Amino acid sequence: MFILAHLSDLHLSTAPRLTELIGKRGLGYINWLRKRKFIHRPEILDAITRDVRLCGADHIAVGGDLTNLSLRAEYLRARGWLETLGPPADVTAIPGNHDVYVPQAQPYAAEFWDDYMRGDDGAERGVFPFLRRRANVALIALCSGVPTGPFLATGRLGADQLARFAQMLDETRGQFRVVLIHHPPVSPPRRYLRRLTDAAEFRGVLAEKGAELVLHGHDHRRSLVELAGPRGRIPAVGVQSASARAAHGEEAAGYNIFRIADERGRWRCEMRSRERDSGGAIRDIDRQTL
Ligand SMILES: [Fe+2]
Repeated sequence: MFILAHLSDLHLSTAPRLTELIGKRGLGYINWLRKRKFIHRPEILDAITRDVRLCGADHIAVGGDLTNLSLRAEYLRARGWLETLGPPADVTAIPGNHDVYVPQAQPYAAEFWDDYMRGDDGAERGVFPFLRRRANVALIALCSGVPTGPFLATGRLGADQLARFAQMLDETRGQFRVVLIHHPPVSPPRRYLRRLTDAAEFRGVLAEKGAELVLHGHDHRRSLVELAGPRGRIPAVGVQSASARAAHGEEAAGYNIFRIADERGRWRCEMRSRERDSGGAIRDIDRQTL
């Protein structure tokens, strides 16, 4: 039995300096002051973090948007948070679109979160996808975060990353392959400006090579869709934000726990969803076999 916890979209924020608010960050900061700072609460993230640490996970996956405007100070704060969650060998992180909010922030993820974002092969930092094998689980981590213009939150994998992803799925066949990505593989029309632009190509690789589980964040919604695979459907699970108050249409903070077992040659994966209720208690709200 292998236990994997998945949480995402913390949107940790620090007060920016005036000079940091040029361009898209300025608009993002207005959005923070008007709305997001009332949603993403540090005390809620602290409570979820404590719960995750006590859930008995063998490994923890963090699905991106750790920061809000990809400021250096936010990156440092997120680094401290990762260290409270666990050591780099037991925690895997990927960037989201808010972690590459502007082009100049692109090197930060590799700089500040390096050892939480590095494959077992110890290859050059900041290279995606990377692969971590833990027991009979192969965790393949992708980066869909790219800088975009104002009012856009799209993501993109690109041809090179998709080619290497296909190769990794081949190399890990036979293990329980978990694909970690920030953007969802399927977006509703209302999320068009926030979609993964090469989602069709991503789903194409999965349809050909297969995977056992896809985990994503970005939409701040609990979701489950089934994608086509070469030998049956592939569950793709979206997790809500780990820091959100149920306000302004946001779902309450929560996270998922997956219990993965090899039962005489057949995989069994049970998902338990935990969520913070209006009284502040974190409790199970759903349990299902995927
Ligand atoms: Fe996002």
